[in-house]
Amino acid sequence: MGGKSSTPLIVKGKRLDGRKPEELRPIKIEAGVLNRADGSCYVEWGKNKVIAAVYGPRELHPKHLQDNTQAVLRCRYNMAPFSVDDRKRPGPDRRSVEISKVIREALERVVFLNYFPTSAIDVFMEVLQADAGTRCAALTAASVALADAGVPMRDLVAGCAAGKVDGTVVLDLMQEEDNYGEGDLPLGYIPSKDEIVLLQMDGDFTKDEFKTALNYAIKGAKKIYALQKEALKRKYTTNKETAKWI
Ligand code: CDP
Repeated sequence: MGGKSSTPLIVKGKRLDGRKPEELRPIKIEAGVLNRADGSCYVEWGKNKVIAAVYGPRELHPKHLQDNTQAVLRCRYNMAPFSVDDRKRPGPDRRSVEISKVIREALERVVFLNYFPTSAIDVFMEVLQADAGTRCAALTAASVALADAGVPMRDLVAGCAAGKVDGTVVLDLMQEEDNYGEGDLPLGYIPSKDEIVLLQMDGDFTKDEFKTALNYAIKGAKKIYALQKEALKRKYTTNKETAKWI
């Protein structure tokens, strides 16, 4: 964000990939892709590829980390070294620690942690390929993976970002727009409750632009939410073994 592109990012109302300002990238969500995890989800969001795996609720060790009143939710967002243009140094960095934290806080708002005292619920999010908007894709995947694991939740959280490029508010920035744009506004949202559980902002927005961007991101998140639910329904109606539970 912040650099200046030598070519315009919006020409005659169309973005570099042909999208209109208020259009999402193509998105595919698949639940239950990993056999060894209790719940999992794979998300392709434009050129982003993200996988989420959930383990638990299971007893938390060492015991001194346990909470006698509720489960401890642990989230790890990680980028594969090959997921970005310049090789990403393996292991946690400031950015991944921050993203893991904001995703955990968003998910804590929906998971019934108090059902599982002394337990841990672990959520791993691995970015295999990144093209901007990975925290929203990771949150979206994590939420489906938790539901796939059968973890009791108030609802799903959907992630979606809006931003600003060439002075225009747009939905769902891709990499070039993130690099050369003027603003990014990632959102975590629960459509059924009209509740915002993650909101960050990078760059500059006027008050009106902010309102428009928030509005776009909420509309985008509602579409993502529908895809999340479809992915879960698809898994639990095609898998006869588990279909009997619904
Ligand atoms: O991915 P998200 O938009 O949630 O977070 P960001 O910090 O705004 O990063 C935007 C994009 O920059 C990422 O999606 C990656 O494609 C890219 N990036 C990168 O190329 N190398 C990094 N070390 C971190 C991010």
